[in-house]
Amino acid sequence: MRLPTLIAGLCLLHCATAGKVCARPRTIESAVFRPGKVVYESRDVVTYSCIAGYEKESGNDKAVCLALGNWEHATLKCRRESDPSPRYIYYITYKLYTPNTGVTMYSLLGANESECLESGKWSQKPPVCEVVTCPPPPLPKFAQLDFFTPREKNISIYQDVVTYRCLQNFALIGNENATCTENGTWSGIPECRDVKCNPPTVIPNGFMSFSLYRKYNYKEFVTYGCNPPYTLEGPRISFCDKDGEWSQKPSCKAPCHVNTPKANVLYNGRKTRVDEIAGQQIHHGDILTYFCKNKIDKCAYTVPSQCQDGNFTVPACYKKPGTFSLFSTDPSKMTPCAQESEQ
Ligand SMILES: *[C@@H]1O[C@H](CO)[C@@H](O)[C@H](O)[C@H]1NC(C)=O
Ligand SMILES: *[C@@H]1O[C@H](CO)[C@@H](O)[C@H](O)[C@H]1NC(C)=O
Ligand SMILES: *[C@@H]1O[C@H](CO)[C@@H](O)[C@H](O)[C@H]1NC(C)=O
Ligand SMILES: *[C@@H]1O[C@H](CO)[C@@H](O)[C@H](O)[C@H]1NC(C)=O
Ligand SMILES: *[C@@H]1O[C@H](CO)[C@@H](O)[C@H](O)[C@H]1NC(C)=O
Repeated sequence: MRLPTLIAGLCLLHCATAGKVCARPRTIESAVFRPGKVVYESRDVVTYSCIAGYEKESGNDKAVCLALGNWEHATLKCRRESDPSPRYIYYITYKLYTPNTGVTMYSLLGANESECLESGKWSQKPPVCEVVTCPPPPLPKFAQLDFFTPREKNISIYQDVVTYRCLQNFALIGNENATCTENGTWSGIPECRDVKCNPPTVIPNGFMSFSLYRKYNYKEFVTYGCNPPYTLEGPRISFCDKDGEWSQKPSCKAPCHVNTPKANVLYNGRKTRVDEIAGQQIHHGDILTYFCKNKIDKCAYTVPSQCQDGNFTVPACYKKPGTFSLFSTDPSKMTPCAQESEQ
């Protein structure tokens, strides 16, 4: 009894498997296999190879049909050739079609290019055209929205603008306006910075409005003046600026001493002698106009000179009275030359 049972058992096992065949082996990306048959017998072998433009990256390129009708699969992996052989590549390019209605509110979402692959498929899904929206604009620290008119559902659309303002004593760094961009994001969100300036400093020969020795806030200011007889040049007010520095300060310019006491000059629209000017001193920026002689035409012409921070140059053509003769005429009393010219 034992033996026939065993034989029957073996037969069952053998008879059940003898007729098994394998279906087509699985496909491997960017590879083909050979030979191609409808069915494969046990122990049939197929060999995969990478298609043109691809090369073997790793794995085993053989698959074996096993006795149970399944495959011992190949593990081949193909990758694009690093230096692909020349072949035709087709592209399609998508562009947003904008009707001539002024503002564009639509944008192309997705890839704007798609490539025809060897698999016969396009590399990208076609893009879609959608209204560009931006979420509510972000609110930086110490900032507030000055002008913000959200549309339906609290969104904004392409090219909407929002204006920011900073809380008092905070300086706005960047652009006060942000715009909803084609990317659906807000461009150029500003920053509100807590700005402090060191105590303001005095200027040479000048003074400052009453000020405490402390840090100053953004936009706080001091006023400058000059000790007489110095003259202030530049802005009278300096304020604590965004960069934590004081804005441009004025400077105090020195007066000029004029050492031609006997000269008749034009000063502040009047003819005057220099020694009639108090202390023979004029202020920075003041102009004295001298008379010079044109000996050929026997007439006088005028040459102005300006006091520049303590520097005053007497025009070279000016001659002290009596330089040539005691009786020579004062040029300021001569007929003006027809045309102002230098001899
Ligand atoms: C496609 O998109 C790229 C990058 O986003 C851009 O540089 C290119 O100009 C676009 N092409 C066309 C035709 O719009
Ligand atoms: C709309 O956005 C503003 C600013 O972000 C926010 O304060 C407000 O609560 C939002 N309203 C709704 C209904 O979501
Ligand atoms: C911000 O927008 C307002 C209103 O449109 C405009 O008056 C202002 O000049 C803009 N500021 C800047 C820095 O562009
Ligand atoms: C839109 O986004 C792209 C990619 O992030 C960027 O290069 C481009 O500058 C953005 N355009 C605008 C208007 O912000
Ligand atoms: C005065 O003029 C001289 C020569 O032009 C110049 O070198 C000097 O810097 C000037 N001084 C002032 C205080 O302007």
